[in-house]
This record gives sequence, C-alpha cells and structure tokens, in this order.
Amino acid sequence: MDYLASDNRYNDMVYRRCGNSGISLPAISLGLWHNFGAVDDFDNSQKILRRAFDLGITHFDLANNYGPPVGSAEETLGRMLEKDFRPYRDEMIISTKAGYLMWSGPYGEWASKKHLVASLNQSLKRFKLDYVDIFYSHRPDPNTPLEETMMALDLLVRQGKTLYIGISNYSAEQTEKAVLILKSLGTPCLIHQPRYSMFDRWVEKELFEVLEHNSVGSIAFSPLAQGLLTDRYLKGIPDGSRASKAHGFLCPKHITDEIMGKVEALNAIAQSRNQSLAQMAIAWLLRDSRVTSVLIGVSTQAQLENSVKSLSNLRFSADELITIDKILG
Ligand SMILES: NC(=O)c1ccc[n+]([C@@H]2O[C@H](COP(=O)([O-])OP(=O)(O)OC[C@H]3O[C@@H](n4cnc5c(N)ncnc54)[C@H](OP(=O)(O)O)[C@@H]3O)[C@@H](O)[C@H]2O)c1
Repeated sequence: MDYLASDNRYNDMVYRRCGNSGISLPAISLGLWHNFGAVDDFDNSQKILRRAFDLGITHFDLANNYGPPVGSAEETLGRMLEKDFRPYRDEMIISTKAGYLMWSGPYGEWASKKHLVASLNQSLKRFKLDYVDIFYSHRPDPNTPLEETMMALDLLVRQGKTLYIGISNYSAEQTEKAVLILKSLGTPCLIHQPRYSMFDRWVEKELFEVLEHNSVGSIAFSPLAQGLLTDRYLKGIPDGSRASKAHGFLCPKHITDEIMGKVEALNAIAQSRNQSLAQMAIAWLLRDSRVTSVLIGVSTQAQLENSVKSLSNLRFSADELITIDKILG
C-alpha cells in the first residue's frame, strides 16, 4: 500500500448534518458518473480520489450504471478500496443506486424489489464490500407500487447491505408519499438526490419544503450543469471536455448563445468576488442550509482543488443574489 492519507484531511472541510440523522456529509461530495469508467485513465482517477480524500471529502457517490461501460466506475472504486482506501473504510460514505438500465430483460431497470435487491448484490461484488452506506432508488418507477420499492429499500437495510437509504429524481409529491411509507416501515429516508444548479431550480418550488418538513437531507447533483457553469466553454468547446465526448449527456447543441450569454454575465460576478465561476456556482447552492452537500464531478485534480476552494467564500450580498436572479431569469 503506497498511499497514506494526509494528517490534515479534516482541517478545512465543512460537514453538514444530513436531515435528522446521525451522520454528517462533507459540504462537497464527489460523484463518479464521468471520468472513472474503464474507458478512462485509472491513474487520473486514482489521483483525483486520493486528493479528494486528503481534502476531507468523505463521501463518494456512484450508481450501478456509471462507467462506461456500466458497472466499471464501481469497479474503479473497488480497486481503489483495495489499493489505497481499505484502512480508511470507516471514514468513508460510499453510496450507490439502482433504477436506470443495467441488464437485459424485464428486471434490469426501474424499481421493483427484484431489480433493487439483485442490483445492490451486484454492486457489492464490484466494490468488494459487505455493505454500502447509502443505497438509492435512482428514479421513480411508474409501474411498480411505491410500497414495493420502499419495502425493498427497507429490506436491504435490515439485511445489513446498506446503512441508509435515499431516493433520487422523485417529485415533491412522490417524495412525500415515499417518506411516509418509509416512516411506517421504521426505516427513515436519509436523503434526496435531486438535480439542482443555477440553471435548474425546480427543487426550490416544492421539494425543499417537503424535505425540510420531514427532516430529510439533500444532495444536489450536476451543480455545475455538467460544466456549463464554469469557464470551460467560454471560448468554444475544448478537446477532452464533456461536450466534446461521444458518450455522456452534454452535447454541443446544449451550448447555445442564450446559455453562454448567462454564463458570461455570471462569470463577471464571480470575478468581482475573486472566485472562479465553478466556485461561485457551488457557493450559491450552499447558501441554502437545506442543501446538505453539493455533489460535484471533475475530470482533473486541478478542477477538484478549484471547486473545493469555493468553501472559503460562501457569503453573498443581497445585491449579488438579486443580480444573479435577474441573469438567471
Ligand atoms: N441521481 C442522478 O440521477 C444523477 C444524475 C447525474 C449526476 N449525478 C451525480 O452527480 C455527480 C456530479 O454530476 P456532474 O458530473 O454532472 O457534475 P457537475 O459538477 O455539474 O459537472 C462536472 C464537470 O464540470 C467540469 N468542471 C468541474 N469542476 C470544474 C472547475 N473547477 N472548473 C472548470 N470546469 C469544471 C468538468 O467538465 P470536463 O469533464 O469537461 O472537464 C466536470 O466533468 C455525478 O458524478 C453523479 O454522482 C446523479
């Protein structure tokens, strides 16, 4: 084992309590959706993961289908656990999910008990772990009774295969119902994982109220709108950027003049705050105490370090917030 975690790893990170639970999450968590698959450079993935842990990031977010190919991001973390992180397992929160297409046939996706139980068993094998810390239903399933999905999550907690459970991409109404079912089963919903960024504010309308009322935490995914809310595309689409790659969900057609007009205006405010746009976009999410953690993605160690520095300036003046609202429209 040639990795020794930094002694200073808990000096600067901020930790926030997750809902009404016993655990705190780092204000910034790291997601392995992109850049940690078998198609990616393992040495780069290793560099990022080591640096993240050294910066106090204790929470690593995955899903069965992260890669590509599907499953390979979990294998990358499994390799890292074996090589570097085994002594630190009890300092880490490892989460995974099931719900998007993973294998062929009628049981390979969505949120039946069959899919969720089989998928978590597969994930544990890829991680080479006995349990994960958080297991999510990745998306609501229109064809499975909510009771069945929640009972499957409750079962997995009782089997010791996950410590906590969460839901992702559930509407406010679905969340309210899920939380009530889980309460009746005796397994609380720890956390909701919604998309939330300056460019996608749907959670502010109803979801946050439901979460607050029920003391459920939240972790905001794609906080940089997959890279749009950074300086990445200010001068076109650089080689190696997410929008330049064939796989993934950010495409050149998303980089419109209208979006770039907003990005430039936001970038000017970030500069006046002596922050990068990425740092400001993360700080802006953390302005709301109902956000337990912001779940970032990175392709390099430099991006990771840049984004984590957002924590040194989380304050916004009333004027800045008004101007940002106006730009976002
Ligand atoms: N629950 C769900 O349904 C769901 C869906 C999506 C994501 N997620 C989770 O959320 C995590 C984050 O999502 P995301 O990767 O879309 O997050 P994001 O933080 O919005 O975007 C990450 C991308 O932004 C660019 N970037 C990051 N930091 C930067 C910096 N400081 N300066 C300049 N550019 C920077 C990089 O682009 P380049 O690659 O171009 O360098 C990076 O890959 C995922 O890994 C996953 O865990 C969950």
